[in-house]
Amino acid sequence: MRVAIIGQGYVGLTIAISAAGAGHEVLGFDIDEELVSDLNACKSHIEGISDSQLMAFVGTGAYKATTNPTLLNDVEVIVIAVPTPLTQSREPDLSYIHAAVELVRNNVMNSTLIVNESTSYPGTLRNEFAAHLTEVQHLYASSPERVDPGNTTWGAKNTPRLIGGLTPEAVIKAKEFYSSFCDTVIEVSSPEVAEAAKIFENTFRQVNIALVNEFAQIADALGISGREVLDAAATKPYGFMEFSPGPGVGGHCIPVDPTYLAYVANRAGVPATFIKRANEVNLAMPSYVVKRVITGAGGSVKGKSVLVVGVSYKANVADTRETPAASIIDLLREAGAAVSWHDPLVGSWRGEESSNLGVCDVAVVVTKHDVVSVADVKKSSYVFDCTGSIPGADGI
Ligand SMILES: NC(=O)c1ccc[n+]([C@@H]2O[C@H](COP(=O)([O-])OP(=O)(O)OC[C@H]3O[C@@H](n4cnc5c(N)ncnc54)[C@H](O)[C@@H]3O)[C@@H](O)[C@H]2O)c1
Repeated sequence: MRVAIIGQGYVGLTIAISAAGAGHEVLGFDIDEELVSDLNACKSHIEGISDSQLMAFVGTGAYKATTNPTLLNDVEVIVIAVPTPLTQSREPDLSYIHAAVELVRNNVMNSTLIVNESTSYPGTLRNEFAAHLTEVQHLYASSPERVDPGNTTWGAKNTPRLIGGLTPEAVIKAKEFYSSFCDTVIEVSSPEVAEAAKIFENTFRQVNIALVNEFAQIADALGISGREVLDAAATKPYGFMEFSPGPGVGGHCIPVDPTYLAYVANRAGVPATFIKRANEVNLAMPSYVVKRVITGAGGSVKGKSVLVVGVSYKANVADTRETPAASIIDLLREAGAAVSWHDPLVGSWRGEESSNLGVCDVAVVVTKHDVVSVADVKKSSYVFDCTGSIPGADGI
């Protein structure tokens, strides 16, 4: 099939390369000109896709990145993978979705299958796409992306994919497309079910992470090791699923998607109190971490050299979106510490460069990449570990 993927970020590029690998002719459309020229020069910007993978498909013409919207008219399938962040007031920001809809309206005159993979609340495909694209009779399906950047076990091929279409024809066409590169394609009865399943999956993670984050604080106050308790609880072979405490949640999904669910819940008159409480607990973790660091460092970090180790939101990826490291650094600076950070995957961030991993008064491990040496972290006088990966260190 001739396929266009709108948005060439983590999700869009991953799908583009999977589709190209299945023999489709893929156009990667993005508004970011620098990104598009990098992709055509076979320079990947995400961990899951290597430059050589890109080279194989750019070389044969199976994949081409573009900023030219007129090319979108000549495809059979259009997949939308644009950001769905929160506004300043922490409400769903559908402006990227609306821009993508406008792009289709202005450029796609032929009937196509339009699939939304961007995460959003139930009703988005029907009310934000189909209701606004009435000039041409397209087919519409929702197939929310479940990619987990950096996960080497579960990828686009073996992660089951949900499909909900507005019509049976849309489902048939979407199944044909996705089953060409996904092992398991599961049809659900409506786009709303697929959309809601995706945000519920992430809400499940957000709420459980908040629960263990709160438990870590309870355990510390009781003088027991929260992680040892969680490991002990995980020996129960049924009815328990282990989650790990940490410095908060980051990335484009867990801190954001549950708020989309809370938004529609509130609109429907349901208060969504679990989500609200989970957000509160997770967003308060950086200040809890800094409080513990100050205590552990002898009551003050004023004038002390503090190195924050790992600023991306999770291990072995370079993504710093919504990372709790940002608040931790800001709060440590407010407390008078001389803060630098070390992250070999991130390199430069917020106008600052990664520092070397050396001897400091305090090291705060926010994210532990495999390439970071535990022995080097331990050279600092006091180490606070948010990851459970520095043996013998104080932490959560
Ligand atoms: N990153 C993840 O792990 C992940 C996992 C599952 C689902 N999702 C969801 O997938 C969607 C995309 O996330 P992402 O992480 O790929 O985002 P991203 O920021 O990495 O990529 C989005 C891309 O869309 C482009 N873009 C923005 N507006 C555009 C427009 N009008 N036309 C064309 N391109 C446009 C941007 O330039 C960017 O390259 C979001 O809804 C997100 O919640 C993300």
